Amino acid sequence: MNNSIKRIDNYKEYFTKEYLMGPNSLRLLDEMLAKYPLKEGGRVMDLGCGMGITSMFLAKEAKVNVFATDLWISATQNAENFKKWGVDDRIIPIHADANDLPYAEGYFDAIVSVDAYHYFAAKKGYMQEKMLPYLKKGGVLVIAVPGLKEKPVGEDYEIMMEWFEGDKEAYETFQTREWWVDLIGKGDDFEIVMDIDLDCFDEAWNDWFISGHEYGIKDKRYFDRGMGEYLSFIGLVIRRI
Ligand SMILES: C[S@@+](CC[C@H](N)C(=O)[O-])C[C@H]1O[C@@H](n2cnc3c(N)ncnc32)[C@H](O)[C@@H]1O
Repeated sequence: MNNSIKRIDNYKEYFTKEYLMGPNSLRLLDEMLAKYPLKEGGRVMDLGCGMGITSMFLAKEAKVNVFATDLWISATQNAENFKKWGVDDRIIPIHADANDLPYAEGYFDAIVSVDAYHYFAAKKGYMQEKMLPYLKKGGVLVIAVPGLKEKPVGEDYEIMMEWFEGDKEAYETFQTREWWVDLIGKGDDFEIVMDIDLDCFDEAWNDWFISGHEYGIKDKRYFDRGMGEYLSFIGLVIRRI
């Protein structure tokens, strides 16, 4: 057996503009799961699952049962993909808003969110009020979220704003790891057990650039103008106590 072949290499057919919605979510998830493995057979919500490739990876590699939950992509579209990929017995597609989830409290062993958490969770109290209740005690929230290493200033801030098309609200959801740790804060019923900058940053972005997606081509232009230097992909694991 060739040990240099990594499990992620088996998923290259999904590194395309049809399935990627940003930096390669499978690489981001693969690294998070390598650093914080989930319990086999558990019940997992994939929150902001997009086209469902992360849900498929969770079902196949972590061997968990998944509730693939998303707002922009319909449950019907994802159900078709899960059937096509032969994982429809282990994944239930759900169309829902992260601000108003339709689940029972204390139901999940884990909630996983890859490249989606910043859209709905960059506000004080969100994690405690809208996420934590759905986890069992001892359950974990596993997050990979895009953010900053440092804030650009001067001309670089102007270029960043151009990239964000002047949308300051969207830009404000890009924050540093320290900012996220501070936002989550401390509590008697949870603890942050991991906060890292992910190693696969370059590879994940590069897969997106070469996917042929029009947004990937646009993003590459801003990386070429130095914006990548400011960015990070932040990995967080929070455990309910
Ligand atoms: C950049 S895409 C990433 C999708 C997927 N996780 C991936 O990495 O391929 C962000 C996803 O977040 C989801 N999202 C944004 N706001 C949401 C909300 N309020 N509730 C649920 N999902 C949301 C969108 O539907 C979208 O599919």
